[in-house]
Amino acid sequence: MTSGLALSILSVALLLAPAALSAEEDPRQAVRMPEMMQTHLRANMRDHLRSMSAMQSALASGQYGVAAEIAEQRLGMTSLEAHDARHMVGFMPEGMQAVGTAMHRAASRFAVIAQDASVSGDLSHALGALSEITQQCVACHAGYRLVAAP
Ligand code: HEC
Repeated sequence: MTSGLALSILSVALLLAPAALSAEEDPRQAVRMPEMMQTHLRANMRDHLRSMSAMQSALASGQYGVAAEIAEQRLGMTSLEAHDARHMVGFMPEGMQAVGTAMHRAASRFAVIAQDASVSGDLSHALGALSEITQQCVACHAGYRLVAAP
């Protein structure tokens, strides 16, 4: 084999390798969604992260009622309408829908517990409830990724 041929085989192999590897190494289920819907979902996601950050700051400064309000309005069952959840749910596999529902429920549960903390001053239950929200973020991200609908 000439070194020129060996080199071109090597470069073809290098070109193909990353694509083949990334498909194999990404264990998340691909969820097909039209681009506009993806843009919308990702914007919701960034708001989820902003909300979690604001809730943590509120807890840290003893503003438990504020943390509760943000959780219910922006992540809890109350937030579903604002987030156009009904339109998006149709694109999600059942398992993904279940994690989404679990996250909204966990946020509403956190809201009640954080409100209680404003009376008791006991933060530990609120922190536990907060971590139950985060566990749903983690579970969904570990299981699913978005790809363009054909
Ligand atoms: C029911 C599933 C689900 C839940 C629950 C969920 N996410 Fe996501 N999130 C996704 C998917 C799917 C993506 C896109 C991932 C991809 O395609 O790589 C995403 C992307 C994101 C992104 C990136 C947004 C961008 O601009 O691309 C952020 C930030 C994020 N999520 C935050 C959160 C936070 C914080 C929570 C919990 C409060 C959460 N998510 C809960 C499914 C979920």
